[in-house]
Amino acid sequence: MTAPKMNPENTARPADRLIVALDVDSVEKSNSIVAELDGMVTMFKVGLQLYTLAGPRFVEKLAASGKKIFLDLKFHDIPNTVAKAGIEAARLGVWMFNVHASGGSEMMQRTRDEVSDFCIKTDVARPLITAVTVLTSSGPAVLSEIGVSANVEGQVEKLAQLASESGMDGVVASAKEIGAIRRSVAAPSFLIVTPGIRPENATYDDQKRVTTPGTAISKGADHLVVGRPITAASNPRDAAENILNEIAKAL
Ligand code: C5P
Repeated sequence: MTAPKMNPENTARPADRLIVALDVDSVEKSNSIVAELDGMVTMFKVGLQLYTLAGPRFVEKLAASGKKIFLDLKFHDIPNTVAKAGIEAARLGVWMFNVHASGGSEMMQRTRDEVSDFCIKTDVARPLITAVTVLTSSGPAVLSEIGVSANVEGQVEKLAQLASESGMDGVVASAKEIGAIRRSVAAPSFLIVTPGIRPENATYDDQKRVTTPGTAISKGADHLVVGRPITAASNPRDAAENILNEIAKAL
């Protein structure tokens, strides 16, 4: 297996660091957000809600329009099933997709290898593959109820290391965990994609442990996932611009 490559997207350009989460309940709303942010935001996350609503052809079309799509479906199944789902994600032309690190090394390695082979054979760019360690909604009580005795930080470190050893390009994690992840994985090219971002004075919505865009970048996040602070703002373009300015300052 080849070592993970430096992410060519990971530059000092603020627009290469911001991923807007399209968590909406209609294709029309999604299209209108993408159009409103045209020329400013190029990376969008399609998660379970929009994917279940709009399907793979919608994702394929968005990717074909030149947007970089993070397909956030958090695959977790037997190695063969996840590897084959990964190939279908690559076929859609997405820029990134993710799996659960707790699916284990065989699942991650096989996905990385089969997706890489497919992309070489068909001459398409291999999507970045990131792994979810411990969901930010899972605290000590959830770990204990599923039989994990480690604390959250210990479990995040362990799964980040496993993801790196299994050829994943990075992890999706809270900004609070960046230090622990950088301690357990030495490669600077290992990506950390961070949701739970709220600008100063913004409402938290249902997020609990939030970080400002500037702090997340300063701590070493590569990409920030931002949803409602932009998509639910009265002026999404202004909201995105403010966040991009904050990222620029931190870079
Ligand atoms: O609207 P908001 O900025 O809170 O959206 C955050 C996005 O990041 C949502 O799509 C959510 O599903 C996702 N996410 C998260 N926490 C994680 C993983 C993903 O909030 N641990």
